Amino acid sequence: MLMESNLCTAILDNGFASSLSEYLTFKQEVPFATYTPVEYLVKWATLPWEESEAYQLRRDVFCEEQGIFAEDDRDATDDRAQLIIALACIAGMPDQVVGTVRIHEDAPGLWYGSRLAVHEDFRNQGKLGATLIKLAVTSANAIGCHTFLAHVQSQNVPLFRRLHWSILKEETILGRSHHLMQANLDKYPPCLTPQSGFVIQSKH
Ligand SMILES: CC(C)(COP(=O)(O)OP(=O)(O)OC[C@H]1O[C@@H](n2cnc3c(N)ncnc32)[C@H](O)[C@@H]1OP(=O)(O)O)[C@@H](O)C(=O)NCCC(=O)NCCS
Repeated sequence: MLMESNLCTAILDNGFASSLSEYLTFKQEVPFATYTPVEYLVKWATLPWEESEAYQLRRDVFCEEQGIFAEDDRDATDDRAQLIIALACIAGMPDQVVGTVRIHEDAPGLWYGSRLAVHEDFRNQGKLGATLIKLAVTSANAIGCHTFLAHVQSQNVPLFRRLHWSILKEETILGRSHHLMQANLDKYPPCLTPQSGFVIQSKH
């Protein structure tokens, strides 16, 4: 609101418009570009708002977009999983959760990643999905993981193969084709600072 009023004043002061109605017409006609974040922070979720935005994003992707779940995709695994998030930053400040994944230990040393999702508008922006996978595996590796697996939706197998995952078997889960895949831990050195995570730049 403050920015809007400053912009209005600047436009009026500089003679682009002489009245509020002229300003409003001006505003409609000028094709201002939509702001695109240039920097993202991928980290373990540590704050309540980060977790609630991550769950909302999962509902948007897995309930609305993919129709896999009716209203909510949360399950018992969430009670023992660590959420990981990708935050879009504006002027260096975290602004919005635009990606998420969760990890959990299923048996001693055996970890799984699941519910990987990137907001539709932020896919192919700056390797968000790849960096979420990276932090998922490297942070588990730092806390005793010897095997890291995921049930990957089959359309995403090429993404995981590029990231040094191998296929263990094909399977059908909730009526959809999946592949059980395993990360090559040699390519994912332990990350000891998952709450700070990784900063990445947009490629655009
Ligand atoms: C799968 C998903 C998480 C990928 O996120 P993303 O942020 O777009 O992926 P990235 O930008 O990190 O991709 C890294 C690279 O892999 C490529 N890639 C991404 N998804 C791919 C796919 N399904 N097949 C092949 N290549 C893929 C990207 O083009 C990019 O290539 P580049 O390095 O040449 O630019 C995202 O598409 C998504 O949320 N999909 C809907 C939910 C979903 O399918 N979840 C996964 C369940 S297993």
